[in-house]
Amino acid sequence: MANPNIRGDRQALKRTMDAIIEASRASKQESRPSPQSSLFAPVPSELPNGISELVFDVPAHKRLSDLVLSANLKESIEEFIYEFSHASLLREHSVEPRHTLLLIGPPGNGKTSLAEVIASELSLPLLSVRYDAIVDSFLGETANRFRRLIDYVAANPSVLFFDEFDAVGKDRGDSQETGEIKRVVSSLLVQLDRLPSHSVVICATNHPELLDKAVWRRFEVRVEVPLPGPSELKEWFQKFERSLGASAGIDAQEFADCMAGESMSEVEAFTLDVRRRLILSRGKLTPASAAREILGRWQRRLRKDLQSGNYGSEISGGKAPEGAETGKTNARPRARRNLRAEKDAGGAK
Ligand SMILES: Nc1ncnc2c1ncn2[C@@H]1O[C@H](COP(=O)(O)OP(=O)(O)OP(=O)(O)O)[C@@H](O)[C@H]1O
Ligand SMILES: [Mg+2]
Repeated sequence: MANPNIRGDRQALKRTMDAIIEASRASKQESRPSPQSSLFAPVPSELPNGISELVFDVPAHKRLSDLVLSANLKESIEEFIYEFSHASLLREHSVEPRHTLLLIGPPGNGKTSLAEVIASELSLPLLSVRYDAIVDSFLGETANRFRRLIDYVAANPSVLFFDEFDAVGKDRGDSQETGEIKRVVSSLLVQLDRLPSHSVVICATNHPELLDKAVWRRFEVRVEVPLPGPSELKEWFQKFERSLGASAGIDAQEFADCMAGESMSEVEAFTLDVRRRLILSRGKLTPASAAREILGRWQRRLRKDLQSGNYGSEISGGKAPEGAETGKTNARPRARRNLRAEKDAGGAK
């Protein structure tokens, strides 16, 4: 029968561990530079030798409110953050928080940004794994490096980030892959299983279909990060207008129609184009005329793409394997969108 004293000791030990971690997190947060002051400052590297070369210590300043996300996705991420930051309460009831997250989706819609957001919201350092520095021609050395990294992360609460994870987590049954890479992945999985829930592991991929089932199974939370839908596009546009401090002279719906099927990074590029045009016009253009001009340019580019049959980087993100918390993916061919642009050109066909 379990000795109640031992159980009490274990709970006391867990509480002490949590208190130490909370204290170290708070002091790290204090010593971390503020987002404004650190934009161009070198990031102080606190990583020890033997670890610093295996990861990039990524400055994480983005907050959840900086991103425009679908309600489903936002809820999943908020829940993950809330759960992890209330780990002590869960552990008091002998329940561990979920700490492994797989982000799946087409390029440019916020996977890397979400890793930054989670690290910054949890006030944990973001360590992005450098595969080039970890994978060695000798499997033994690769396994040693993984072990070293996992030991470090187990002792120093962090967010360990595997970006473009398919690069290393490729299907071990893939005949193109050498036996070596399969063994590398196996070694990684064994090491990942050792990681306690005081640290977070996030993996991002554009190619869920390439992921080994064993890799897939390792992640307690799997979320899809889809292309923005109409309401995200409208929200983005309204934020953009607020940041301009003036009307952009375009209707939010028109903007959403025009940008349908584009990734968030393309939408961001559009708004940056408007800002550049506005600044370089030295006051000759109003925000509305700059936005109209850039929108016209985007619509012409779009029409050219349509005529040449080049539908650009239309990557749907692959089929999300079973179990992913899917938001509604809004991938649709460029050929079907932007009716307004056709009308503007006066030649809808
Ligand atoms: N949901 C979003 N809200 C606001 N900005 C976004 C969003 N998604 C992406 N962006 C912007 O687009 C750019 C690219 O985003 P990010 O690198 O996070 O995408 P990704 O999904 O990791 O892409 P990839 O698969 O190519 O690595 C960033 O500059 C980011 O600010
Ligand atoms: Mg990325």
